[in-house]
Amino acid sequence: MPKSDRRQNVEKVVMYPLDWLEERSGLVGGIRYFLFRKVPGDTNWFHTLGSATLTAFLVQAVTGVILAMYYKPDPNSAYESIQHITHDVEFGWLVRGMHRWGASVFIILMFFHMARVFLFGAYKYPRELNWIVGVLLLVLGMLEGFTGYLLPWDQTAYWATVVGINLNGTGPIVGPFLASFLRSGSEIGPDTLARFYSIHMLILPGAIFALIGLHLYLIVRLGVTSPPWSKEAAGADWIEEPEQEPGRAGLVQPGPRGGVAK
Ligand code: HEM
Repeated sequence: MPKSDRRQNVEKVVMYPLDWLEERSGLVGGIRYFLFRKVPGDTNWFHTLGSATLTAFLVQAVTGVILAMYYKPDPNSAYESIQHITHDVEFGWLVRGMHRWGASVFIILMFFHMARVFLFGAYKYPRELNWIVGVLLLVLGMLEGFTGYLLPWDQTAYWATVVGINLNGTGPIVGPFLASFLRSGSEIGPDTLARFYSIHMLILPGAIFALIGLHLYLIVRLGVTSPPWSKEAAGADWIEEPEQEPGRAGLVQPGPRGGVAK
C-alpha cells in the first residue's frame, strides 16, 4: 500500500536528524547492531544478573552525585553534613538510604552474576579476558565499599577504617606503605578523609565505568554463552573419540579435550 503524504512527511522529519548523525558518526548503525545482535534462543533469567549489576551500579552513581552536592569531606563538618542530608534535605533520607543499601545490593549482585558465569562455564575460551575484567570490577567494587564506609565520619566509620587500614598494614613488604598511603600520613585525620573521598567518588567510579565499557564491548564482540545443558552450547556437537592406541608418554596431540568435532 502506498504511504500517505502525511506519513512520508513524518518519516522525513524523524529520519533527517538520525541520517545526519549516522553520516557523521556511524552511531545509529552501532546502536542498531547492539540492540539487534543475535543471542542464543535459550538464554534465561540468570543471564539478566549482569544487567541487574549494571543497574545497581548506575543507581550508586546517580545517588552518589546527588550526595556529593551536600557532603563536606572535612572532619569538622562531615558528620553534620550527613545529618543535614538525612534530616533537612528534601528526600535526602531516601537518596542516602538508596546509596547505603544499594552498595550491598551492588556487591551481592556482582557475586550472583559471577556465580552464574562460573556455573555456566562462561569464563572459558574465548571469554577469559572478560572474566579477568570482571575480577578487577569485583576488587574495585569492594574498594568502593571500603572507602565509602569512612565518609559519615561517625564512631563506626572511624574504627572500621582503623581496623581496615591496620589489616592492610600487616601485609608482607607492601603492607606498611599501603597503610601509610591510605592514612595519608602516620595518623587518621583530615587528609585521610579527603583522600578516601577522592578515591571513592573520582578514581574508583572512573575506573569502574571504563572497565564496564570494556566488559560490555567484549560481551557484544564475543556473544553470550548458552546454558551448559543447551544443544547450542560450545562443544555440544562433539562426539567421544574412538578407542586409540595410547600415545607415547610426553607426546601431546593438540585437539579438543575428550572428543572430536562431528
Ligand atoms: C560492575 C560489575 C559487573 C557488571 C556491570 C557486569 C555486567 C555484565 C553483563 C551486562 C553481562 C552480559 C549478560 C550476562 O551474562 O549477565 C556480563 C557478562 C559476563 N560477565 Fe560481567 N559484570 C560485572 C562483573 C563481573 C564479574 C565480577 C565477573 C567475574 C569475575 C564477570 C564476568 C563476566 C563474564 C565472563 C561474562 C560473559 C558471560 C557470557 O558470555 O555468557 N562480570 N557482565
